Amino acid sequence: MEKTSLIKRITSLKKERKAIILAHVYQRDEIQKIADFTGDSLGLSKIAATTTSKVIVFCGVRFMAETASILNPDKIVLLPEKRAGCALADTITLERLKEEKREYPDAAVVSYVNSSASIKAESDICCTSANAVEVVNSLKEKKVLFVPDKNLGRFVASKTDKEIILWDGFCYVHHYGIKPEHIELAKKNHPLAKVMVHPECQPEVTKMADYVGSTAQMARYAFKESSKEFIVGTENGIIYNLKTHNPDKMFYPASEEAICKDMKMITLEKVALALENMQYEVKVPEEIAVRAKKALDKMLEVKVK
Ligand code: 13P
Ligand code: SF4
Repeated sequence: MEKTSLIKRITSLKKERKAIILAHVYQRDEIQKIADFTGDSLGLSKIAATTTSKVIVFCGVRFMAETASILNPDKIVLLPEKRAGCALADTITLERLKEEKREYPDAAVVSYVNSSASIKAESDICCTSANAVEVVNSLKEKKVLFVPDKNLGRFVASKTDKEIILWDGFCYVHHYGIKPEHIELAKKNHPLAKVMVHPECQPEVTKMADYVGSTAQMARYAFKESSKEFIVGTENGIIYNLKTHNPDKMFYPASEEAICKDMKMITLEKVALALENMQYEVKVPEEIAVRAKKALDKMLEVKVK
């Protein structure tokens, strides 16, 4: 089916199913265009909680759809591509986390939301890249087992007095896709641009940036900053979103290699099929969901400036 017919089909199915479409800012431009809301993973989960729609088509990756389902157990959360996962989330298993907990019995476990529901369930508290420092500082324990992203963990360690025990996980898009030489070249090509990067990037990259923040924080920074040009160090899908909200500003990807293949698995065809066949429902077993929700709720109580 061609693009305009597909979009028509999605619009009519959406009405029929009384559904809403949520899209992460790393999604393809055409998916962000048809979405009712776009945003970061946590922001989208919060929208899922306030919507009256029973059916939520979550255009993102599995851990995001799981989080939306855990926070909204009475809603139907559909992930249009069941293989859309996260290489970072896959760097830790429940067994390995349990071993690590035995090794550091006095450490609190903080899991980045980019993790599976069973990892969240085994954690004391969750965090996002927007609130990780505040979450770690909110704990009474001096020692923190931070999983699974070592770059975000290192970033937090540089901003807290707590002892951070790192897990050796990373996101290939940020760790390998955005290197210091990419930033150097982008700065040479755009000398007036501000550099903003995600804390999942290597420390060698974050130290070259004017601003380090989550996807939502970067969007706010770009909106508020008087600068008219920005070099963007995160998954390149965000450029569409930044341009849409700041039409008078210029955004340059730090690297053409910063593409998350799982995020790009979702297409208009798959969104139409998700609505047509009500596929693929993401449901976390109740016993895991209840414990994971505790860690997420605890995070949501932490105040962030
Ligand atoms: P956000 O939590 O900012 O949505 O980022 C998710 C992600 O996958 C970062 O790589
Ligand atoms: Fe996971 Fe990295 Fe893709 Fe984000 S960009 S979903 S952390 S693989």
